[in-house]
Amino acid sequence: MAKTKSTYFCQSCGYQSPKWMGKCPTCNEWNTFVEELIQKETTDKKGEWRSSSSQKIANKPRPLHDINPLEQPRILTPDQELNRVLGGGIVPGSLVLIGGEPGIGKSTLLLQIALQLENLRVLYVSGEESEQQIKMRADRIGLQHENCYIMTETSTQNIFKQIESFEPNILIIDSIQTLQSSFIESGAGSVSQVRECAAELMKFAKESGTPVFLIGHITKDGTLAGPKVLEHMVDTVLQFEGDRHLVYRILRATKNRFGSTSELGIYEMLGDGLREVTNPSEILISQREEEISGIAIGATIEGNRPLLIETQSLVSVSSYGTPQRSSTGFDNKRLNMLLAVLEKRGGFRLGAQDVFLNITGGLKIEDPAIDLAMCASIVSSYEDTVIPAHTCFAGEVGLGGEIRAVHKIEQRILEAEKLGFKKMYVSKFSFKSLSSQNFKIDIKPVGKLEDLFNDLFQ
Ligand code: TYD
Ligand code: MG
Repeated sequence: MAKTKSTYFCQSCGYQSPKWMGKCPTCNEWNTFVEELIQKETTDKKGEWRSSSSQKIANKPRPLHDINPLEQPRILTPDQELNRVLGGGIVPGSLVLIGGEPGIGKSTLLLQIALQLENLRVLYVSGEESEQQIKMRADRIGLQHENCYIMTETSTQNIFKQIESFEPNILIIDSIQTLQSSFIESGAGSVSQVRECAAELMKFAKESGTPVFLIGHITKDGTLAGPKVLEHMVDTVLQFEGDRHLVYRILRATKNRFGSTSELGIYEMLGDGLREVTNPSEILISQREEEISGIAIGATIEGNRPLLIETQSLVSVSSYGTPQRSSTGFDNKRLNMLLAVLEKRGGFRLGAQDVFLNITGGLKIEDPAIDLAMCASIVSSYEDTVIPAHTCFAGEVGLGGEIRAVHKIEQRILEAEKLGFKKMYVSKFSFKSLSSQNFKIDIKPVGKLEDLFNDLFQ
């Protein structure tokens, strides 16, 4: 007979304590401890994933240079956006967590990928929907192949029982919060359950070399529901985000053991599934009939991909004592810094103005090269002067009002050229480092904000 015992878990970070506490000592959250019954491990975990390799005697040390890194190549999916975000395809034996708000399209994305992988046996385990519901979704997406299997199950032991004979090439779990392991007493979705189920799946992934995708729910404040420990355990954490009311969805890696975390995948949610957006700059720049002030286009780089995005500002006289500064998709502190630089170095009286800033398309930009476009759009709105169409900007603004060089300037210039821009303002220091200055686009090197405004708004 197994001994049962209970422990208190912080629902926010997963901290474990033998007694209840008001405040969590690690994440400092209040009232987050919940008692969960956990069963003491029995010596024999029947029903747990166990492959033949795990029964061998303990692993021996091996010299690093003897290990072949690419024993199994990555699996390339037909979905280029996913391949890029994963760092070049699915790594065998990896555990990938996809988080996102309810209704954003996580199940749709993974079902669609399952249906696109025609040569592989894919097992899609759902604890949330019935087989008929999944079939309806598949019909909606309009793809079919005979090697995609569906199983509605929540017990990990039953899942492993099926897997042992079924031997899938890819396993998809929708969602980790609905799974339940019989080694833990507490309910599905509790910290100890989520942790145990993820650990069992990780063991399966590593020992069998099968990639496992986990769908994870997200709480209201944007963190993955359940413990942070889940993020530490898996190899890759992908966030699927976007405004539910808009059609664009962004897939971004927030942790990746096999690639960079700066890559983005952009999708459009259509009536028949998600479509990859291969040329995002076109959708991020709005098509306007008339020219309005306060709009500037910045050339940024997300990961390895150049993106031209629209920045919008609205500067108006503040009717209250303290002027409001608010930004969407851009760091508020950086906005305040740019306003101070414009005030001090450019002589613009922005202290008594409300400033609202928006990056279109729901993107969040951290690339400092967007600074120049921000400053141009703020001044354009303040002066109510339109920035000519087909003009774009790439440069970081320093505290002295100087315009600093940014990396990968050639890629930015080529992207702007491809999209039909005629004029591009860059730092004069970037300009010097260009290997060739033969571009169709007219490049204007500027050293200080003053030079920019003299040239732009004369
Ligand atoms: P879903 O994948 O169920 O979201 P999640 O698993 O993240 O909770 O996506 C649900 C939304 O997507 C729903 O509002 C309907 C919409 N949708 C489409 O617009 N087109 C489609 O082809 C499909 C399958 C869903
Ligand atoms: Mg779902």
